[in-house]
Amino acid sequence: MSKNKNNQAIWGKRIGKKTSVLFEKVGSSINIDKRLFREDINVSIIHVEMLFRQKIISFKIKNKIIYGLKKIEKEILTKKFEFNKKYEDIHMNIEKRLHEIIGDDAGYIHTARSRNDQVITDLKLWIKNSTKEIINNLEVLNKTILKASEENIYTIMPGFTHLKNAQPISFAHYLMAYVEMFKRDKKRFTNNLENLNENPLGVAALTGTSFNIDRSFTAKKLGFKTSTNNSIDTVSDRDFVLDFLYCVSICSLHISRLAEEFIIWNSEGYNLITLSDKVVTGSSIMPQKKNPDTLEYLRGKTGISFGNLFSMLTILKGLPLSYFKDLQDDKEIVFKSNDTLINCIGILNEILKNFKPNKQKMFELANNGYITATDLADYLVKNHDMSFRNAYEVTASIVNYAEKKKKKLNELNIIELNKIEPKLNKDVLKVFDLKYSINSKKSFGGTSFDNIKKMITKYKRIKND
Ligand code: ARG
Repeated sequence: MSKNKNNQAIWGKRIGKKTSVLFEKVGSSINIDKRLFREDINVSIIHVEMLFRQKIISFKIKNKIIYGLKKIEKEILTKKFEFNKKYEDIHMNIEKRLHEIIGDDAGYIHTARSRNDQVITDLKLWIKNSTKEIINNLEVLNKTILKASEENIYTIMPGFTHLKNAQPISFAHYLMAYVEMFKRDKKRFTNNLENLNENPLGVAALTGTSFNIDRSFTAKKLGFKTSTNNSIDTVSDRDFVLDFLYCVSICSLHISRLAEEFIIWNSEGYNLITLSDKVVTGSSIMPQKKNPDTLEYLRGKTGISFGNLFSMLTILKGLPLSYFKDLQDDKEIVFKSNDTLINCIGILNEILKNFKPNKQKMFELANNGYITATDLADYLVKNHDMSFRNAYEVTASIVNYAEKKKKKLNELNIIELNKIEPKLNKDVLKVFDLKYSINSKKSFGGTSFDNIKKMITKYKRIKND
């Protein structure tokens, strides 16, 4: 709880009894919200500049307060500041220290504001900055994926549906699917920056204030485009927190899908990729083990991100307007989701920079499962005047025949094929070639090598989309 110069709670005049030790312990959020110190100090400086411009406080007091705040910032940065649980949160800790430094004039700092608008302003600014960091990290990640894609244009692997061989693809095409996902994540976070553009400062506790404040000035100085319209909504609103947590959740989900695929492909059953020793761990009992723990970490942390989104949704559900203590937990949730995502992007980047595709295994696997059956059906449509459904049935009969003879499609000769479809001639044999199959998928967005090369060039050109 905050104390004034007499070492009394700020609300000590009104509330006669000392806060119970138990509540003081759980009610304090300083260990969490101290991360807002930069934003809090900046917001306070701009607030008092505005108070002075509006002739609400004097030049001398404004300067004294700014001097004190800058001193506090230095103390925090040099780890000389003592955060005290007794003073509840970052706002009170700073105000308390300001009083120690400049004396009673510190009392003017809280004119025409409340912690209610202060904390939302701090948090919005914090999320804005962190969003920019996440966007940068996603750009780095996409560069890494693009590099791996460039190295693997001609690496052939099976494309799966239901984890069963479906049609052959270039490994680069698979990797670039994730470039698209992370590009969308970047866009989602970028759109969110737009939603963070309204200044909450000045709505005070919930009604606005009777002081002649200038919210446009604080908005401009704090980098907001405009000010919020309704003071009650502003104090109650945590949509911007939900938006952020949702963006984090989807990005984590993408990371988790890749992690899961790599876990499967790294298993002995598939053996399609080898992870670097830098990102695997051993077993305490089985000496041969190299476990993909880092990938499992990524998959697991996604659950935590979803949980955080749901925690916040649940806190807000049914909460009457306007401020309640319930809202205080928003910061812990945001920080956890943020830190986890930043870690996960970094870890994934490290994994992708160092793994190796097992090209031979990928190719061998791609040769299984009659993977070029669709190419055969397409060939029949194009060259023998059949409807796709007819061609599908003929192809199914050929696949059944090959299965019975325990042969791959590319091991069948033209005599065998003609037993099922007399119209076929030797030209058809080309469709069983995996490269031919891949390169035939020239439709926009398809896996043909040419498409992939064009896409890589495009990604490199439009760096920041
Ligand atoms: N530490 C508080 C929070 O994060 C600041 C707002 C306090 N306002 C109040 N009326 N108790 O929610």
